Amino acid sequence: MKRQLNPSAFNKWIYDIIDDYTHRIEVYKGGAGSGKSYGGCQKMILKSMKMKRRVLFVRKISNTLKASIWQLVLDLLSEVGIKEFCRINKSDLEIELPNGSIFLFKGLDDPEKIKSITGITDVIIEEATELNLDDFTQLNLRLRPKELFPQIYLFFNPVSKKNWVYDYFFIGDIPLDTLIIETTYKDNKFLTDDYVKTLNDLQYRNPAYYKIYTLGEFATLDKLVFPIYEKRLISDDEITGLPKWIGLDFGYVNDPSAIVNGYIDEDNKKIYVKGEYVRKGMLNDEIANVMIKLGLAKDKSYGDSAEPKSIAEIQRSGVNIEATEKGKDSVIHGIQWLQQYELIVDERCFKVIEELDNYSWKKDKKTGEYINEPVDTFNHTIDAIRYGLNKYIKGIRKAKVYKKPIGL
Ligand SMILES: Nc1ncnc2c1ncn2[C@@H]1O[C@H](COP(=O)(O)OP(=O)(O)OP(=O)(O)O)[C@@H](O)[C@H]1O
Ligand SMILES: [Mg+2]
Repeated sequence: MKRQLNPSAFNKWIYDIIDDYTHRIEVYKGGAGSGKSYGGCQKMILKSMKMKRRVLFVRKISNTLKASIWQLVLDLLSEVGIKEFCRINKSDLEIELPNGSIFLFKGLDDPEKIKSITGITDVIIEEATELNLDDFTQLNLRLRPKELFPQIYLFFNPVSKKNWVYDYFFIGDIPLDTLIIETTYKDNKFLTDDYVKTLNDLQYRNPAYYKIYTLGEFATLDKLVFPIYEKRLISDDEITGLPKWIGLDFGYVNDPSAIVNGYIDEDNKKIYVKGEYVRKGMLNDEIANVMIKLGLAKDKSYGDSAEPKSIAEIQRSGVNIEATEKGKDSVIHGIQWLQQYELIVDERCFKVIEELDNYSWKKDKKTGEYINEPVDTFNHTIDAIRYGLNKYIKGIRKAKVYKKPIGL
């Protein structure tokens, strides 16, 4: 097989293991753009051309499949020249290769659907840090050892030491039958100079991102602002009747815009984070459209007051949005207020989770002591949460001011 391949079509690190199927688990950990998804899928496609396979491609959320791994696999089938001979079912996201190998694409947000799939020989997990350990365990159990060369490939960036992949693969001994492949942009000869420059510039703009996305290393876990929160599926039952909140933080080129929504239970001091939409490069009319589509246009939402013009534009597109009132110290007040609540995050909100697992206190440069100010990164969804809950936070602050003069 290898003799027929053209090595120049591959990055060296994947070419070296292209027909090695001896490890049940292959862990592709690395910085952004290192060629993990591309290389891992090249390998799986070639394996499936060589022998009949039934491969499950998964991501946590099904509606993220089409624009990512589905498209990549189609492009690669085209590159190897067999796409026109494949049976492609766009609505069910299924592909049948000429030799009868089957590719299935599923989101894990519907576990029942996954349970009904049988006879899987291989699994590809795109953005594996979006999953939780239980998702992975279930998938791992689905691969029956009697298959020939059963394999699971996991692709991910080292987003946080709090993520399950860190404990599972990088603490203590490497699990049995596991190959760990660590790459950075330097291992991808196909990247453009512009992309490399953007990654290198992160060292000035955002040191934590630089470590994760440029160097491909787990960032050091500093003192987290929200060390404890609950991560699970939130059922509709437990939030019925509770007031809803919606917050919006603006970004554009370098930072994403973040729309986050949830519920508050003031009596039991619980905050539920139920939904998120986080994307770079969104114009105001796109933000408005997304909010309308997600059913977040009618209830009152709150956006960053630093962008009054954007708020006005989004309002005009039919969204019931207002600017938050921000005072001095509003960040720290908001955090302190949030910390008095039990925070429950739906496990599908993986951007919120990524931020909570990284959002840390700043250290004084001279003394090395933590100061009462968070590091200004991993805070887009967290800011959106603060904005969404602003009227409750504000209430508390007013009460404090009121109490002082009467000596309470
Ligand atoms: N063998 C290849 N041939 C041509 N282009 C490639 C190849 N491998 C990678 N690339 C290019 O490099 C880009 C980055 O690769 P890929 O998306 O696989 O990186 P990644 O490590 O999965 O990144 P991320 O961590 O952001 O998901 C691809 O979009 C593609 O343009
Ligand atoms: Mg990738």
